[in-house]
Order: sequence, then C-alpha cells, then structure tokens
Amino acid sequence: MPYPYVLLSAAVSLDGYLDDTGPERLLLSSPADFDRVDEVRASVDAILVGAGTIRADNPRLLVNSPERRAARVAAGQPEYPLKVTVSGSGDLDPTAKFWHTGGDKVVYTTDKGGERARAAGLAADVVPLGPDLDWRRLLEHLHEVRGVRRLMVEGGGTIHTQLLQQGLADELQLVLAPLFVGTPDAPRLFGPGDYQAGRLRLLETRRIEDVVLMRYEPTAPGAGSLPSAADHHWLSLACDLAALCPPSRTAFSVGAVIVAADGTELARGHSREGDDPVVHAEEAALAKLDPNDPRLSGATVYSSLEPCAHRASRPKPCARLILDAGVRRVVTSWREPDTFVTAADGNGLLTAEGVEVVVLPEYEERAKAPNRHLLG
Ligand SMILES: NC(=O)c1ccc[n+]([C@@H]2O[C@H](COP(=O)([O-])OP(=O)(O)OC[C@H]3O[C@@H](n4cnc5c(N)ncnc54)[C@H](OP(=O)(O)O)[C@@H]3O)[C@@H](O)[C@H]2O)c1
Ligand SMILES: [Zn+2]
Repeated sequence: MPYPYVLLSAAVSLDGYLDDTGPERLLLSSPADFDRVDEVRASVDAILVGAGTIRADNPRLLVNSPERRAARVAAGQPEYPLKVTVSGSGDLDPTAKFWHTGGDKVVYTTDKGGERARAAGLAADVVPLGPDLDWRRLLEHLHEVRGVRRLMVEGGGTIHTQLLQQGLADELQLVLAPLFVGTPDAPRLFGPGDYQAGRLRLLETRRIEDVVLMRYEPTAPGAGSLPSAADHHWLSLACDLAALCPPSRTAFSVGAVIVAADGTELARGHSREGDDPVVHAEEAALAKLDPNDPRLSGATVYSSLEPCAHRASRPKPCARLILDAGVRRVVTSWREPDTFVTAADGNGLLTAEGVEVVVLPEYEERAKAPNRHLLG
C-alpha cells in the first residue's frame, strides 16, 4: 500500500534538545530559516505534529506567506495544508490555536482516545485506528482517504523517533542552532531504541544565517515483509539502472542493487553491462562481491524485474544465484511477463526457499519503461 513521502523537519540545539523547559517555546531557528520552513509547508499536502507539541507550544502551523498561499490556490490545492495530529489519550484542548486557524484538521487516535476526543468537540475529523495507534495504518489512511502525497512532520521528538525507528521517514531536514540548552529534562530530538535508518545519506548542507540545514535520507532496507522508506529509494535506483542497459530485442533491460542491512550499497548492476552481451542485472551485481562476504546474509537485493527462474544463456537463473549467495530478502516490482519464457516465477522459487520477497507494484511502470519495445 503506498504511503505519502514523509519529510521530518526539526531544529535542534548543539546539545541535541528541541526546546528548553521554560513556558515559552525556545526559538532555535533564524528568521530566514523560519521563512524556509514556510516554503516547505507550502509545498506539502499535510503537516503533522504530536499532541505533545500542541500542548507545549500551541502552534498554528500555517503557510504565512500570502504569495505562497495564492500559488497553492492557483495550482488547484487548498490554501493551507491539511493539519494532522496524533494522540493516544485523546486529551486535546479544544481551544488550542491548531483547531481554529488554517484549513482542514484530522486527529489520529486510539479507540479509547477517540471517545475522549469526540466528547471534547474538537473542530476536526477524529479517526480512531484501533486499540493502539499503528503508523503504517495512519500513513495508508492519509494516502488513500485524504489524498496526501507529501507529508511534513514537525515533531516533537516522540514522533520523529518512532518514524525513524520504524523505517518510515523518507527524508530528515535538520537545522542545527548555535546554542546550548543544558537542561537534562528538556525534550530531546531523538530517544533511545532500535533505529531502522542505517547510516543516513547526506543530501545537502546549507548555511542559513547562523544556522545550518542538513538534509538526510535514511538508507536501511526494511525488515521482513514490511517495506521501509529506503526500500523505495533503492528500488527507484534499480529502475534508473535499468534505463542504462544497451537496448536488446531478445532480453529485458533490468537494474539491480545489493544493499547491506546497515544501508551500505554493496554492488549494483544492469543487463548487458560491460562487455557481456547476456549478463543479467542481479548476476552482474552479485559477481562484483566476494561470495563469502558476511554481509550477504543480511542483505536485500533490489531488482526492477522479478529475478529470472529459467535461463538458456547461463547454467543458473538469477533466483538461484541469489539463493546460493545466501541473500534472504528481495524487493522487486514488475512480474516477468511471458515474452521470452512462459510461467516464469522467480518470486515463487525464492519464496519457496524461505526468501522474503517484497513486491512494490507502484514501480512497475518505471521498470517497464526501457522495455516498451518488447511489450507490444
Ligand atoms: N525544535 C523543533 O523543531 C520542535 C518541533 C516540534 C516540537 N518541539 C518541542 O517538542 C516538545 C514536544 O515533544 P514531545 O515528544 O513531548 O511530543 P510530541 O512528539 O509532539 O507528541 C507526543 C504525543 O503524541 C502522541 N503519540 C505519539 N506517538 C504515539 C503513538 N504511537 N500512539 C499514540 N499516541 C502517540 C501522544 O499523545 P497523548 O499524550 O495525547 O497520548 C504523545 O504524548 C515541545 O517542547 C516542543 O516545543 C520542538
Ligand atoms: Zn536473471
């Protein structure tokens, strides 16, 4: 099920705090950076904060620039992004500014929290998601029911921590402010726990007055059947690699990437790479690694097309090569059509031998794009 693109946004002190313990919100950013945040808000479909941030800061979460609001309206979007909050308890103050400014609002909560939130008469849609709040169900609901394609998450730390730990963040926009908070019980940006983020990829650094913006992308493959945001990025790269293949009338153009559990790219490949006119993408990538590389057992293979199960040009099909390499997880999109072999079922072969195969159908059109001439 597709989710929105999830962009986490936060400003943090040099000692890692989001705020101090005083009654007023601590201003960490510079004026030009607040304007940048306004620009990011104007570019998204929805803005989410936790109930703790509403209670602590009483924020309005608006697009402040009239020009940016006018541009949204001219583009057929609502003037303001949807405002979203998350509360387990349903303990939300109906007089908070969140409910009385901007456009539509929605509260995601638990069954119990839903009763309390409804009784409070909030000016918002209240959506209980069951006995506990599940982030994947929340993101699915935002995508399917509210049409949200880009979601900006503006904290607080509890929310950012969960989204990164569960592998659900596509991007982190972090602003480092040149000051110290120094109070141990002030709210921290990230809490303890098991982060499914890998070593993040640094996408950009930007000086904005006296603060620094850093944009990062998590890299760690998902665990088991649950896709992580990084799974999407890696499969997207595999689709880009498929476009590099020398054209052929007798074989598909496919791209593949092998990624370690910590998000390190181990190898990549594409069909007919180098001087080999018949090499397949997964085969080309695996051939670049030592077969005894201990990282292979925890690695994920990304392939734009399902790995082949039958093959005339080589003794072993790619599904067998993946099994022999000890890889236990494959992420792919396009199921192999009957163009060259009938009833190819590489995914079935892998699954039968205990490999977790995750299919992300939303990449099928991109995987097919360099193969249009073969598809009639
Ligand atoms: N510097 C910045 O960029 C920035 C940005 C935002 C916030 N902040 C600061 O961060 C502080 C607030 O952060 P915070 O961590 O305390 O609060 P928070 O992350 O905004 O909200 C936490 C609350 O969200 C709800 N929640 C979160 N995960 C949930 C789950 N899985 N299931 C059910 N409910 C869930 C709970 O609400 P209930 O308690 O209602 O159950 C929880 O108490 C404030 O001091 C604020 O100033 C700073
Ligand atoms: Zn193959």
